[in-house]
Amino acid sequence: MTAYRDLLARLPGEPKTWLVTGVAGFIGCNLLEQLLKLGQRVVGLDNFATGHRRNLEQIRAAVTPEQWARFRFIEGDIREPVTCRAACAGVDYVLHQAALGSVPRSLEDPITTNAANIDGFLNMLVAARDAGVRRFVYAASSSTYGDHPDLPKVEERIGRPLSPYAVTKLVNELYAEVFARAYGFKSIGLRYFNIFGPHQDPEGAYAAVVPKWVAAMIRGEPVYINGDGETSRDFCYIANAVQANLLAATTENPQAVDQVYNVAVGDRTTLNDLFRAIRDLLAERFPHLEDLQPVYRDFRPGDVRHSQADVSKARALLGYAPTHRIADGLEEAMDWYVADLVPGR
Ligand SMILES: NC(=O)c1ccc[n+]([C@@H]2O[C@H](COP(=O)([O-])OP(=O)(O)OC[C@H]3O[C@@H](n4cnc5c(N)ncnc54)[C@H](O)[C@@H]3O)[C@@H](O)[C@H]2O)c1
Repeated sequence: MTAYRDLLARLPGEPKTWLVTGVAGFIGCNLLEQLLKLGQRVVGLDNFATGHRRNLEQIRAAVTPEQWARFRFIEGDIREPVTCRAACAGVDYVLHQAALGSVPRSLEDPITTNAANIDGFLNMLVAARDAGVRRFVYAASSSTYGDHPDLPKVEERIGRPLSPYAVTKLVNELYAEVFARAYGFKSIGLRYFNIFGPHQDPEGAYAAVVPKWVAAMIRGEPVYINGDGETSRDFCYIANAVQANLLAATTENPQAVDQVYNVAVGDRTTLNDLFRAIRDLLAERFPHLEDLQPVYRDFRPGDVRHSQADVSKARALLGYAPTHRIADGLEEAMDWYVADLVPGR
């Protein structure tokens, strides 16, 4: 039995209280759904900066009324210490996802990104420490590898940050490390690599590539590739990220704590390959897309050229075993995108 299957079998018999910050966002609402389905109690915190009420409504529809009754939502801002304190009261595990994502957003407005991602993070760390939570798991980022040329990325070797967003995520790791050293506070950072899946927002200037392209293709809009399309990423389906969070929160391996981990698959997919994979999947339902071609435009500043993770540390210390490679994830997510994006379906 894998560590995760074992955990999924065990958790319903041991209900705990989890705080998910950023619960109305993409990763947060997927965590909420899995935890409620496992009979856990969940406190959710969000200010709807980039998250949506409809995500919470969709999770409500996906679980039973009894499971939904174990969810308590706090509309609030992690930039306010008093809100963070209230949210952490009586909590066993914190899964801290709330932040302003997106490299371009941080280049345009570094101050707002800094406030949510550094001030907000520190408020949450202090509140969780003072509440005596068992474990603080937080969303770190592959952007921390910055300009380091090595592939695949291993946790110990990072470069210089390439954007204000990357700075904030690196600072999160530094604070977590110092809280371990100074206060014995136990945390785990998960360096997500391009997570995708249901509930990821396709709208707006800062949308992630997978939902943005799916939406553009379904709506008959042009699909833009920034650069020559040979930029590559380790696209990781949301189920793998949920697995990593649950394993990190509950691990009893003392060596696994106060660490950061890559959360990815270990594959490398170019944007050109991603375009073809999405187009071919959608063409099964919308045959006119079969010959669709992308529109190439300039490279985007701040973007890393190649990214691919070595996930052996998470495998060894957390028992992480990704269940979905990119093709599996795209196939699983497509029904949701079509239902969400095609009017009248
Ligand atoms: N999606 C990815 O590929 C990816 C990659 C690396 C890191 N991350 C990190 O994972 C986390 C979740 O990302 P996501 O993709 O779900 O993004 P998202 O934008 O869908 O979710 C973030 C949530 O945080 C909330 N939030 C933002 N500022 C807040 C504040 N001040 N107070 C309370 N809530 C606030 C937003 O309203 C939103 O619901 C973020 O920390 C992000 O930086 C994501």
